[in-house]
Amino acid sequence: MNHRGAGKSARILVVGQGAREHALVWALSRSSETQALWVAPGNAGTSREPKTRNISIDSHEVDTLANFARQENMDLVVIGPEAPLMLGLSDRLTAQGTAVIGPRQDAARLEGSKIFCKRFCQRHGIPTAPARIHEKPEDALRDVATCPLPIVIKASGLCGGKGVVIATSREEAETAVRKLSQLPGGQEGLLVEECLDGWETSYIVLAEETTYLPCPPTQDHKRLEDGNRGPNTGGMGAFSPANLVTPELETRICHQIIEPTLRALAQSGHPYQGFLYAGVMIDKSGDPHLLEFNCRLGDPEAQVILFRLLEDLPVIFEATVEQRLHEVHWTSGPEAALTTILAASGYPETQSGGGEPIEGLDAPEEGTDLKVFHGATRKVKGRIVCAGGRVLAVTGRGPSLTHARDRVYARIDSLQFAGMQYRKDIGA
Ligand code: AMP
Ligand code: GLY
Repeated sequence: MNHRGAGKSARILVVGQGAREHALVWALSRSSETQALWVAPGNAGTSREPKTRNISIDSHEVDTLANFARQENMDLVVIGPEAPLMLGLSDRLTAQGTAVIGPRQDAARLEGSKIFCKRFCQRHGIPTAPARIHEKPEDALRDVATCPLPIVIKASGLCGGKGVVIATSREEAETAVRKLSQLPGGQEGLLVEECLDGWETSYIVLAEETTYLPCPPTQDHKRLEDGNRGPNTGGMGAFSPANLVTPELETRICHQIIEPTLRALAQSGHPYQGFLYAGVMIDKSGDPHLLEFNCRLGDPEAQVILFRLLEDLPVIFEATVEQRLHEVHWTSGPEAALTTILAASGYPETQSGGGEPIEGLDAPEEGTDLKVFHGATRKVKGRIVCAGGRVLAVTGRGPSLTHARDRVYARIDSLQFAGMQYRKDIGA
């Protein structure tokens, strides 16, 4: 890292405000390598971690964040969410000599533009669902009038988890085209994509050019309701290890998806650095297909990945920014980890609102095997209240997934806020 090196005294800024960022702060603050942490803007949970202060700069305020990092002599900035990556925060920090974890704008287009990503996959032979790209909504409407059903319609740009519709009827498909093309993320165009059948895994690596460290495979639960029903969300819970991902399958995901991607980006002059998240669908024959790339850790995947990590996170990050990633390891403990999201009423339709007081946060049972990460929380007059969206991520660890799950759901029983919704079948 630029000034002191992480060695014993790193000053680190984490950008973001969700439970993923709380988990990052939790993992970084436990290390003796970390001197002090700032979170912009953070939440009511991050400010309670040792050595940590929230700083009220929104994660979209790229100039203010870069200036703050320079003025405060940050050794490292860790960017949690996608929006600041797409706005070029990593480029800004690199230009001023501040070390950063997170890809530059050009490479982050893998997440920011599904059209770019699809063309990239087609060009480089990365297995993915066949799709037609439409810049005009009329063309997409003509397409969905005759294509086989079900069909997947995607807005190209960022839509905060609302940019994908799986339509089972013509009417649904046409409504989706009209709706998605109106969103800011739909302005660049739409994808009409073949619907794949199978099961999904979130495969995340920490990459530096063509070197990478795989994080343990995880599985997310994207739908709101038990039994995978209801609308898609950012993720309602996750677990790891994901035993369906055999070592052979992992090798195929790395060889067919991760490695050609990193190689092609490096060769085109846009080398990747940071977490690369491949959302992968495994079809009935056991073949992996890329559904999407995210240029960051997943939320809630980060909570279980970081809960299982045995290594010192600042040491891994230091090796990444110093291009010595091959010298370190991403070792996870043998125990299973599971996280369940407690969401505010109205989620995922509305992310706003909130203000409901949260009861039961200060319970004595929390230790190394259980942690309530905060997502959308804030402090009002000394009380911690909901800030809308995904409020808490109750995360537990145990010798088996069943142990971890029992621990998590026992803790959830003592937490309460008005309108709380959560899935009861995470990892089941
Ligand atoms: P994405 O944002 O592209 O990952 O899409 C969100 C979710 O939609 C994925 O996690 C899948 O569950 C589903 N999905 C996306 N693309 C497809 C596809 N081609 N076939 C079936 N399901 C899909
Ligand atoms: N859990 C899915 C995501 O982070 O995009």
